[in-house]
Amino acid sequence: MTYKILEKRELGESGIVFEIVLETPLIAKKAYAGNFVLIRINETGERIPLTIADYDREKGTLTIVFQVVGKSTKLLSHQNVGDEILDVVGPLGNKIHIKKYEYPVVFVGGGVGIAPCYPQAKELKEAGNTIISILGARNKGLLFWKDKMGAVSDEIIICTDDGSEGKKGVVTEPLKDLLKRGKLSLVIAIGPLIMMKFVTLTTNGSNGLPKVKTFVSLNTIMIDGTGMCGGCRFPTIDGKIGFACVDGPDVDGHIVDFNNLLKRANRFEKQEKKSLELYDQECKALKKFDEGSS
Ligand SMILES: Cc1cc2nc3c(=O)[nH]c(=O)nc-3n(C[C@H](O)[C@H](O)[C@H](O)COP(=O)(O)OP(=O)(O)OC[C@H]3O[C@@H](n4cnc5c(N)ncnc54)[C@H](O)[C@@H]3O)c2cc1C
Ligand code: FES
Repeated sequence: MTYKILEKRELGESGIVFEIVLETPLIAKKAYAGNFVLIRINETGERIPLTIADYDREKGTLTIVFQVVGKSTKLLSHQNVGDEILDVVGPLGNKIHIKKYEYPVVFVGGGVGIAPCYPQAKELKEAGNTIISILGARNKGLLFWKDKMGAVSDEIIICTDDGSEGKKGVVTEPLKDLLKRGKLSLVIAIGPLIMMKFVTLTTNGSNGLPKVKTFVSLNTIMIDGTGMCGGCRFPTIDGKIGFACVDGPDVDGHIVDFNNLLKRANRFEKQEKKSLELYDQECKALKKFDEGSS
């Protein structure tokens, strides 16, 4: 069984973020906010984890949003409407716990991490919560889904590192303002590891501001996605080991040893660079062949 691409669009103005809608009736039936899928594009492809950014049970579709960072995400960006993906495995990981909280729930979405915030914000809003969303990116071109997040948020705050849209600066500044303004029940941060680390340092009560329970979505390297390979393991500050695929991907951010995770995040950098170079050479050779034969 293969999985057809029904829709594809570029998000923002960066040229590196894409949204794809896939025909996956069985997975869509069982999908919840917080779940992810493992995708293998073709028989020589690696398995890459991508969060379910939206789903439609009636149409039997899943939406994924991804940023091109290496070979597999580049190959995925080269697929078009009507093309078939070889494997889509899921839904994997834990769905988030939906309930009505006493005080507002704050989402902090950084870059492509804005997309996985959407289904969680939508389901928590439907449960009657007040949702405040902080969306951050390096620049305006990398922002997307402001309307979609706006539709499920009571308040939305935009920030960019270079000030090209919204407030100039990082997401932790408006988060500090919200912590000073009033009580919050929960913070959910999804984005680069470094952003999630600083969000947890802002909400852990060590800076004179109130401590607020904070979930982060761990984007560790994953292989099987079912707790067997150990690739996604993450150390906790009390010396225990968790597995992002089966214990998460959303976990209590205050127990994660981010320094260790950040050290391990680039351990395959050389191989990833090589793999991308080879793919780029292959693309160039194919383009030349096509031009020669037309
Ligand atoms: C649960 C989960 C959900 C994710 N959801 C999204 C999403 O919705 N959108 C999105 O753009 N990205 C998401 N990611 C990250 C995405 O899986 C990686 O960007 C992708 O695997 C990179 O593959 P690549 O070949 O293009 O790049 P590579 O050249 O392989 O690597 C580039 C970077 O991606 C990281 N990476 C490589 N392989 C993996 C892997 N198997 N798992 C995790 N990170 C990896 C590396 O640390 C490196 O920094 C998610 C990761 C996890 C664990
Ligand atoms: S991906 Fe293998 S144990 Fe989590």
